Amino acid sequence: MKKPYHVLAIETSCDETACAIIRDGRHVVSNIVNSQIDLHQRFGGVVPEVASRQHMHTMLPVVEEALHASGVTWQGVDAIAVTRGPGLAGSLLVGLSTAKAIAFVRGLPLIGVNHMEAHIYGNWLMPDASELAQLRGSVDDAGRLATGARKEPRFPLLCLIVSGGHTELVLVRGHGAYALIGQTRDDAAGEAFDKVARLLGLPYPGGPSIQRAARGGRADAYALPRGLARHGYEFSFSGLKTAVARLLETTRDAPIEDVAASFEQAVVDVLVAKTMTAARDLGVEQIALAGGVAANLRLRRQFVAAAHVPVWIPPLRFCTDNAAMVGSAAYYNLRTGNRSDMSLDIEPGLRLVTEQAAF
Ligand code: KG4
Ligand code: ZN
Repeated sequence: MKKPYHVLAIETSCDETACAIIRDGRHVVSNIVNSQIDLHQRFGGVVPEVASRQHMHTMLPVVEEALHASGVTWQGVDAIAVTRGPGLAGSLLVGLSTAKAIAFVRGLPLIGVNHMEAHIYGNWLMPDASELAQLRGSVDDAGRLATGARKEPRFPLLCLIVSGGHTELVLVRGHGAYALIGQTRDDAAGEAFDKVARLLGLPYPGGPSIQRAARGGRADAYALPRGLARHGYEFSFSGLKTAVARLLETTRDAPIEDVAASFEQAVVDVLVAKTMTAARDLGVEQIALAGGVAANLRLRRQFVAAAHVPVWIPPLRFCTDNAAMVGSAAYYNLRTGNRSDMSLDIEPGLRLVTEQAAF
C-alpha cells in the first residue's frame, strides 16, 4: 500500500487561528479552528491589531491540538503549508513565521498558499457522513450515494468565490490554472452582508446574523436592486446596501425579517444568475461554490437548483476560513512541483490571477 502523505496546514489570514492535518490532499485527519469572533464583536468588525495579538496567543496551542487530534506524530508529517495572502499583514505574519520555524527545524518542505485558491480546494475535501444532508443535490451527495466512492471536481470548472473581501468568478482549467471571468466593482458579497447587518443592528459577522434574522421573512417583501444585471459577469453590491439604508430611513416600521430576507434574496439572485450565465457561455463541465458566503443556505439551495451541470458545494465547516482547505491546495501545488523556500514572505494583496481573461 502507498504511504500516506500528510500536510500540516496553517491559516491565520483574518480572525481565525487554524491548523489541520490533511492526508493525500482530500482526507481531513484533524481540523482545528479557533475563532476570534467574540473578541471582535464589540467593535462590529475585525480589528487587525487585536487579531494578530490573539493569533500569537493561540497559534501554538492550535498546532499542538491539531497534531494531537490527528494521531499523526511529527515523524508522520511530510510538508508544512501556510496561507501567505491575501489577508491582514500582522495576522499572516504569525502563521507564516510559525510555519517557517517548523519547516526549518524539522527539515520539511514549506509551501505558501494563496487563500483564495485554498477556498476553491474546500471542494476537494471529503465530507463526513453526517454532512451529506448539507450537500443535497450537489455532486458530493450524488457521488457518494450512487457509487459509494467520492469523485473529484472535473475541469474546466467554474468557481464562484464569495467571501468577506472577494467576489470572483474564476475558471479553473486544471490544478493551478485560473482565469478571472468577473469580479465585484465595489463591495464583496460578504462585505455587503456585514454592512447591511450593521444597518439592521445585527452582530458581526453579518452573514450568519442576516441568515438567522431572515428566517420566516418574506423574500419578496421589498423590491431591492439586482446590481449590474445587464453587465455580464461583473458584480456590484454597494447600490444594494444604499437601497437598504434608504428603505430603513423611509419605512421605520419595516419588519427586520422581511428586510433581511429581501436583501439576502437580492444578493443570491445576482450571484446565481451571473454564475449560471457564465457557465453556459463558457461551456464548463461543472460548477463550484466557495468562500464564507457559500455557507449561506439560500445561496446553496438556489445554486444547486439553477445549475444545468453538476455542482460542488463544500460542507459548511470548509466554507468559512479553515486550514483544511489550505492543506488540500498545498498538496496539489506540491504535486505540480510548486514549493517555497525560506525566503517565503507574506503578500497581503495577493491575487489569484493577475490578468483578466479575454472572453
Ligand atoms: O471566507 P471567509 O470566512 O473569510 C474571508 O476570507 O473573508 O468569509 C467571511 C464572510 C463574512 O463576510 C461573513 O459575513 C460571510 O462570509 N458569511 C456568510 C455566512 N457565513 C459567513 N454570509 C452569508 N451567509 C452565511 N451563512
Ligand atoms: Zn476566507
